[in-house]
Amino acid sequence: MTSTPELPLRNEFFLPTNSGVGAHRLLNVDKPCTYLCGNSLGLMCKRSRELVEEELSVWATRGVIGHFDHPQKRDWVGLADHARPYLAEIVGANEKEVACMSTLTTNLHLMMNSFYKPTSERYKILCEAKAFPSDQYAFASQAQTHGLDPAKAVLELSPRPGEYCLREEDILKVIQQDGPSIAVVILSGVQYYTGQWFPMQSITQKAKEQGCICGWDLAHAVGNVPLSLHDWDVDFAVWCTYKYLNSGPGGIAGLYVHEKWNDSLKPKYSGWWGHDPLTRFAMPSQFSPVEGAGGFQQSNPSILAIASLLGSLQTFKKAGMMAPLRKQSILLTNYLEKLLFQSKYFVPLEEVSTKYKEGKGPPGFTIITPRDTKDRGAQLSLLFLPSGTGVMQKIFESLQSHGVIGDERQPDVIRLAPIHLYNNEADCEAAAQYLNRAFDEFEA
Ligand SMILES: Cc1ncc(COP(=O)(O)O)c(C=O)c1O
Repeated sequence: MTSTPELPLRNEFFLPTNSGVGAHRLLNVDKPCTYLCGNSLGLMCKRSRELVEEELSVWATRGVIGHFDHPQKRDWVGLADHARPYLAEIVGANEKEVACMSTLTTNLHLMMNSFYKPTSERYKILCEAKAFPSDQYAFASQAQTHGLDPAKAVLELSPRPGEYCLREEDILKVIQQDGPSIAVVILSGVQYYTGQWFPMQSITQKAKEQGCICGWDLAHAVGNVPLSLHDWDVDFAVWCTYKYLNSGPGGIAGLYVHEKWNDSLKPKYSGWWGHDPLTRFAMPSQFSPVEGAGGFQQSNPSILAIASLLGSLQTFKKAGMMAPLRKQSILLTNYLEKLLFQSKYFVPLEEVSTKYKEGKGPPGFTIITPRDTKDRGAQLSLLFLPSGTGVMQKIFESLQSHGVIGDERQPDVIRLAPIHLYNNEADCEAAAQYLNRAFDEFEA
């Protein structure tokens, strides 16, 4: 039995330095910064750099020969298949249900093209009101492609007045009530703005009961929280890999299709990389798709992008994959939350409406991410108060000047995510300390 190394695997990563991120108010410029932004762009694994450098060297020394004869037995023609077992394990699927390909929004369109088949009775797309904009554009354009008015075809779920997250009972109720008119239920596994991890299993089950297709955008869920797409009976899912999966900016994406669709659903927009690899290079005129998700591949994929992803996936494996990582994630995020609760500038969510009546009150912050660990992943979303007064921007700049890297989401949110693979408790402490200092200076 191999033993799981102690987490975090900090030494396996390149940690940006204070000078690198513009922390001009710190003297220890060469020390690692406090990087809490792996929910947006994961850090680079040392293994990723090694693998990318190896591929560059194969390209330099062998050129086109690398496609079929690779010194490390990673022939480029089959490189995407090297990523599949890892991705399948991370999303809880069979290998054939997963493909490593293209980009998230493109994969979302591919899946909607195959699964969204509106009829006069069943034509709605159910999503979050504050879905990531790319998804909103995709859903509206999908409706328009079928001659439908997005205002009628796209049904949005909003939190109750004064709340930020969606309640499970409210989501299930809408699916129950509008079920017969909903063609596709598609939400994000973890919400990008609030950090809420939706109850994916019960939503999927309710959608199935109502005869709807159920898909998920896993951009913020994959590599963050444990997933069991196959067992939950999810129809399709898409994700990017540059967040928790650390594949690098604009890295290659992923796609999942449940195997129950293998016989009845064929790729609608075919390309040669979805064709049976045994005859792909015989260049037949007839398309014969690979069984499962692989059939949706279109183009030969970027080898450098896959190499970079593979390095991170191998590091996930070294860490023991999602079970120990999730444990570590809960510890770290709970610790950051505890430190933030101790801040004198913290305002409990329940008190915001009374303390900031008519939008007035002292500078402070609350946390809009659910408190229950079963309803969230690594990310905490801090909402700065009073809303719309520029507090967030000032605090954000101050944090950055002290090397604390989160990201801002207009108008009032900063997202901080301690990442199970490479962040530690000292990162959480630095974030809380510099947040307090930023407020102190704000007040002075
Ligand atoms: C939830 C979500 N969906 C979709 C996207 C768009 O991803 P891409 O630009 O890779 O298509 C993002 C990007 O951050 C995202 O966070």
